[in-house]
Amino acid sequence: MSFSDHLLNWYDDNARVLPWRSAPTPYRVWVSEIMLQQTRVETVLPYYERFLMRFPDLETLAQAEEGDILKAWEGLGYYSRARNLHKTARKLVTELGSQIPPTAAELERLPGIGRYTAAAIASIAFGEPVAATDGNIKRLYARILNLDAPYDSPLFEKTINVYAQSVLSQERPGDFTQALMDLGAEICTPLQPRCEACPVGEYCLGFKLEKQNQLPVRVKKAPIPHYEVCVAVLEHNGKILLRQRDAQGLLAGLWEFPGGKLEPNESLEDCLKRELLNKTGLAISVGAKSGVYKHAYTHFKITVHAWYAKPARSPQNLRENLRWVSPEELPAYPMGKVARRISEKIQTKEV
Ligand code: ADE
Repeated sequence: MSFSDHLLNWYDDNARVLPWRSAPTPYRVWVSEIMLQQTRVETVLPYYERFLMRFPDLETLAQAEEGDILKAWEGLGYYSRARNLHKTARKLVTELGSQIPPTAAELERLPGIGRYTAAAIASIAFGEPVAATDGNIKRLYARILNLDAPYDSPLFEKTINVYAQSVLSQERPGDFTQALMDLGAEICTPLQPRCEACPVGEYCLGFKLEKQNQLPVRVKKAPIPHYEVCVAVLEHNGKILLRQRDAQGLLAGLWEFPGGKLEPNESLEDCLKRELLNKTGLAISVGAKSGVYKHAYTHFKITVHAWYAKPARSPQNLRENLRWVSPEELPAYPMGKVARRISEKIQTKEV
């Protein structure tokens, strides 16, 4: 029996039951692979079913408002994925006859679909024999090959990609790829892999040489920066000021409580006043502290300090990315995790 036979036999007996694996239409597979980018299966599960109820097919998704899609995505992170999903749906409906393209080469030309995702969709939804290698699969193959090139180095990438294509099942490429995902999640885990239970242990050079715990070889990363951020829950006539973030960049298009980063040698209150003036044009008087919130993004961490505040003078001529919103309306505005926590606190309290 080959590597592929061992792996597929194991998968036939042990595959995780996941919603995108039952009735795997191209649309369902595409949505699942976008949601699963950088995101754990357990996190995706509740979103996936809800999203598909709300947007059951390509046409529904193409016709939806971006705000509604962001709202369904709220809490899942990496919001550009939701916007790209929408862009792609519109492109497919208007230019490509409402069909999801069946090859990795074509899929890779669509917004938000990189090499890995294109290969995953093409192999799982259409049976194209192209190898998909995500982080879990790279770890697994680095162990199989006892590959000591640094993770993500050109040599590492090249070696993994060539090997992945050479062992891929030509008959069941989608199952083969999903079997590797399950193996990476359940047996060939980052720490303490359960090699004694591995169906392809006999092919694993890392295991044979007892190197599995040292592989893949990672180069030490610089520590991730931490920022202090001050925001205002600015209240006027029973309404609260929300600001929509720019259409590009982090949390693009989402709504937040206005504020920004602390400068060196600045007090938190000075930062709050400066940021409010800068982002809203409004001078404020600062009230009680509402809360302190910590959050980690991929490349940095933040501590957000939130205060209740009022405009120093009656506000007029509001900028177009600002809106006065009543507390009951807050849930309808798509927000990132920190803003949502602040918003929930406001709703439990009379403003
Ligand atoms: N991660 C990315 N795609 C996946 C899939 N189809 N099944 C399980 N985990 C995944």
